[in-house]
Amino acid sequence: MSAKPFKVLITHPEVPQSGIDLLNENCELVRVESLPPKRSELLQKIRGVDGILWGGHEALNAEVLDAAGPQLKSISTMSAGIDYVDLDEVKRRKIPLGHTPTVLDNAVADLAVGLLIAAGRRFHEGRKKIETGNWENYHLNWMLGQDVRDSVVGFYGFGGIGQAIAKRLSGFDIDQVLYTTRRRIDRETEKELNAKKVEFNELLTKSDFVVIAAPLTAATQGVFNATAFNKMKNTAVLINIARGKIVNQNDLYDALRSNRIFAAGLDVVDPEPLPPNSKLLTLDNIIILPHIGSATNRTRSDMATIAAHNVLRGLVGERMLSPAY
Ligand code: DGY
Repeated sequence: MSAKPFKVLITHPEVPQSGIDLLNENCELVRVESLPPKRSELLQKIRGVDGILWGGHEALNAEVLDAAGPQLKSISTMSAGIDYVDLDEVKRRKIPLGHTPTVLDNAVADLAVGLLIAAGRRFHEGRKKIETGNWENYHLNWMLGQDVRDSVVGFYGFGGIGQAIAKRLSGFDIDQVLYTTRRRIDRETEKELNAKKVEFNELLTKSDFVVIAAPLTAATQGVFNATAFNKMKNTAVLINIARGKIVNQNDLYDALRSNRIFAAGLDVVDPEPLPPNSKLLTLDNIIILPHIGSATNRTRSDMATIAAHNVLRGLVGERMLSPAY
């Protein structure tokens, strides 16, 4: 028998070493080696493990939990969003589940600001103009975009990531932050960020930039649809760094194509990967990134560290660093 008291499955071969080293001290590690990770390998190696470090966004559901067996005591994802987890199943089995919010706030916020400027100032379209020999700078009002200065920035969801974006944007001399959340944030933070809680309608009608920074839930799915786009300013820029399914992509396509709204910057789409023949990719006024919000070396390593701590704590019955429920 192994001298190490717990057996832990690492579901992805590229989980950073910081997390592996921590788990290795106390646990026998079993690792999925295929890349992309094969479900069949996962289902085979998961049998009898005490803990799981779940790297990636594959479905974590009853099939997986059944395959693991009743001794499973602790799971942590390496993500902030847990929309791919069947949370009811995990809860029903009373298995502690951790995730990794907070450590990725800064990286995602940096990317969001980049997208906001890139979409508002037409980076993608500009690049295409060069490639197609249409650099028409003899026009006086060529390629004009939207000012960030003095703008109203509306946040749909205003947790750690939203607040980190607002903090960065305060350096761009914006006029006001509006936000829509279930609960009002504390007064001090509101004051610091010049932020005001408003109804969704007001957020849509008053914002120059609308930033989606909410988790995907039954309540948020498809909320940004034609009705919403029709309420936005025609100069408005939509940014989504949360989850693709919060936006109705067909409606977004129509809104951008008809210039009902000015532009969009997306780090998340539905589905992922986006098929290369997606009609969204034919538009000039959209900039799309392949879900790289948290993709920096330091952030990925920090996510692995937090996930490993979560797993270790769950194994010994302690409260996780960042429990998901
Ligand atoms: C998350 O952690 O939820 C981000 O989308 C990156 O995966």
